Amino acid sequence: MKMMKKKKKVSVHSAVNYKGKLLGADTPFAITESFKTLRTNLMYTASRENCPVYGITSCYQSSGKSLISANLAIAFSMMNKRVLLIDGDMRKPVQHRCFSLPNDRGFSEWLSGMSDFEDVVQTQVGYPCLHVITSGNIPPNPQELLAGENAGSVLSFLKERYDVIIVDLPPAGVVSDAVAISSLVTGYLFVVRAGEDDSDSVKRVVETMQQMNCKILGTVLNGVDLKNGEYARKRGRYSYYRRDPEGKA
Ligand SMILES: Nc1ncnc2c1ncn2[C@@H]1O[C@H](COP(=O)(O)OP(=O)(O)OP(=O)(O)O)[C@@H](O)[C@H]1O
Ligand SMILES: [Mg+2]
Repeated sequence: MKMMKKKKKVSVHSAVNYKGKLLGADTPFAITESFKTLRTNLMYTASRENCPVYGITSCYQSSGKSLISANLAIAFSMMNKRVLLIDGDMRKPVQHRCFSLPNDRGFSEWLSGMSDFEDVVQTQVGYPCLHVITSGNIPPNPQELLAGENAGSVLSFLKERYDVIIVDLPPAGVVSDAVAISSLVTGYLFVVRAGEDDSDSVKRVVETMQQMNCKILGTVLNGVDLKNGEYARKRGRYSYYRRDPEGKA
């Protein structure tokens, strides 16, 4: 009898790529508008802050946090605001790949005191008002770096120089890095991948974060099929942003 080899289940997101997914002249109108709407809604949530710091997290991995962080940063830069995008995911960093940047030095080196701002900030990223600090080399202790003393002084320094800061973070349902930086962020945007992240887990992680004094500003439902499927039928139009499921934001 012939033994059939069992096929390994491959995740739909295993081929991670960001090519052609950053906002630009060719981006479909509905997607650009979604990010502009998200930007506007976020601005209302932090209208009293000179330089709001938005942390982007989720329940699980591959929800689209990094892509949304990058596009949200671009959307803010379209308003001629001085925008800084930080790759705060020092476990699975990707912003250097999104923007095709070197990553030999970055946030981890600055937080560890091995580099300065001038060494790590990248100002030529393809969008005039946007600067990027990539993750740097993967450190052994990302959580300690994010919760450490240096992180406070680094963020204070940056808030004097930018109008908006966006920090791409690891999934809060998997590691505690996102929560470790809670005292330094204005609030979090919680990304939910449509059809993949189950609502019980999302609720549990959001509640845990709220118990730890993390301010959830809103959720982004990512990967909604605009033309077909449940959301298209129920909502009739694409919605990228809504308030947090508990209505506590
Ligand atoms: N709305 C979308 N449409 C098409 N592709 C998407 C969308 N959102 C994310 N992707 C793709 O899904 C993959 C995972 O996205 P991304 O890296 O942004 O997720 P992540 O939540 O940051 O993952 P991780 O938890 O590993 O940091 C990437 O290839 C990205 O380009
Ligand atoms: Mg990511």
